[in-house]
Amino acid sequence: MMSLPENFLWGGATAANQCEGAYNIGGRGLANVDICPSGKDRYRVISGHPDSLKPDDDHIYPGMEAVDFYHHYKEDIALLGEMGFKTFRLSIAWTRIFPNGDEEQPNEEGLKFYEDVFRECHKYGIEPLVTITHFDCPIHLIKEYGGWKNRKLIDFYKKLVTVLFTRYKGLVKYWLTFNEINMILHAPFMGAGLVFEEGENEMQAKYLAAHHELVASAEATRIAREIDPENQVGCMLAAGQTYPYSCNPADVWKAQEKDRENYFFIDVQARGEYPAYAEKFFEREGIVLNMTEEDRRLLKEHTVDFISFSYYSSRCASADASIDKTEGNVFATLKNPYLKASEWGWQIDPLGLRITMNVLYDRYQKPLFIVENGLGAVDYPDEKGYVEDDYRIEYLKQHIRAMMDAVELDGVKLLGYTSWGCIDLVSASTGEMKKRYGFIYVDKDDQGSGTLKRSRKKSFYWYKKVIETNGECLKENI
Ligand code: BG6
Repeated sequence: MMSLPENFLWGGATAANQCEGAYNIGGRGLANVDICPSGKDRYRVISGHPDSLKPDDDHIYPGMEAVDFYHHYKEDIALLGEMGFKTFRLSIAWTRIFPNGDEEQPNEEGLKFYEDVFRECHKYGIEPLVTITHFDCPIHLIKEYGGWKNRKLIDFYKKLVTVLFTRYKGLVKYWLTFNEINMILHAPFMGAGLVFEEGENEMQAKYLAAHHELVASAEATRIAREIDPENQVGCMLAAGQTYPYSCNPADVWKAQEKDRENYFFIDVQARGEYPAYAEKFFEREGIVLNMTEEDRRLLKEHTVDFISFSYYSSRCASADASIDKTEGNVFATLKNPYLKASEWGWQIDPLGLRITMNVLYDRYQKPLFIVENGLGAVDYPDEKGYVEDDYRIEYLKQHIRAMMDAVELDGVKLLGYTSWGCIDLVSASTGEMKKRYGFIYVDKDDQGSGTLKRSRKKSFYWYKKVIETNGECLKENI
């Protein structure tokens, strides 16, 4: 018996700002993601403290060219087709559709670009999985309105999604409203276009912006169903269960608190209301959301169809502040002595994926979709661009097996699996090119040099086999 259903959606994931490039082509406007530099200043910018809202000559802005998917999409999608992809996750650059974000009419060139991309996918039997916003926000909306702090953003977003659902009806069925919505708490400039003023109450601003995104997400779900009942809308969480560092109840409590910081978003999107613990937290912290009755009704009536999430690692928490920390997906966590870590310090925990899936499924009872997972590593290509990336294969193998266990042994309902960065692309947290996730190598380095030539890695052939056998080959240790 097979673990996974016949129609399981195998594939890979990307984001516009990390792979498209062509930041000033086709009528596209400037976005927050264009002005996130690589190097030591990146964290300051993504966490809401940019020096200015335009690029300068002192920095490299890797997203501006990225791996130029904009001009290479046919070649790239052909390679994905060759691997047998059933789905391809990509995101829309908001500023290709509405360059400033608040125009009356959309930009036809941008709409046409994605239409061509979707048609190209369908040529190979690939179902697009579209993230409406993956960390991007038009600079104009940040300058004029303060980004998602401002309620008006809900209307601009509604306009965007209405255009997308109408134009791509019949071409796209699976939609995600906001990438890693909980990232707003850790990278608020990327997650919500927030720029903090000196002395501003940052927590208040972040939760207010989060509320606006949550309402916008419910609106998008409503509009998606109105325009085409075939549409399936998902939320998207940067997941990874938090373990207590020890069985000391104080550690267990700390871990629960940490998890709630993340699950709070999905509690709203999947269950339709703010959980009691969040309301109490806002009360305690003096956070005011100006929530209307209409907001509450929208949230209640338009919950998501499925829960999508990224998983790179589990997390760990303790009441003892002196325990060593290590890097994680944007936010740091505690060093778990039982786990090894990647070159970037992200801890590797395949069983943690099974645990996370079970927690999410128990909590929400809605189908799951793993839309990001993978190993960021330095690759050493030979003269033909071939990379012997056994380390990546090993990571993916262990995680896919854990995923199959969750489905086969625990009964978790899972729609699909898209590994992150199926084509090498720019890293979100560090802006590096040398941190690679792909099955397809792209010749480009951190200084922006390279031919952009694509080549197949060893993992390309391995993943093709995994898809061909619906994962069954992993049971024979391939
Ligand atoms: C997720 C994001 O946070 O993790 C992606 O949705 C990101 O955009 C991915 O690229 C991996 O993180 P990084 O920092 O290694 O690129």
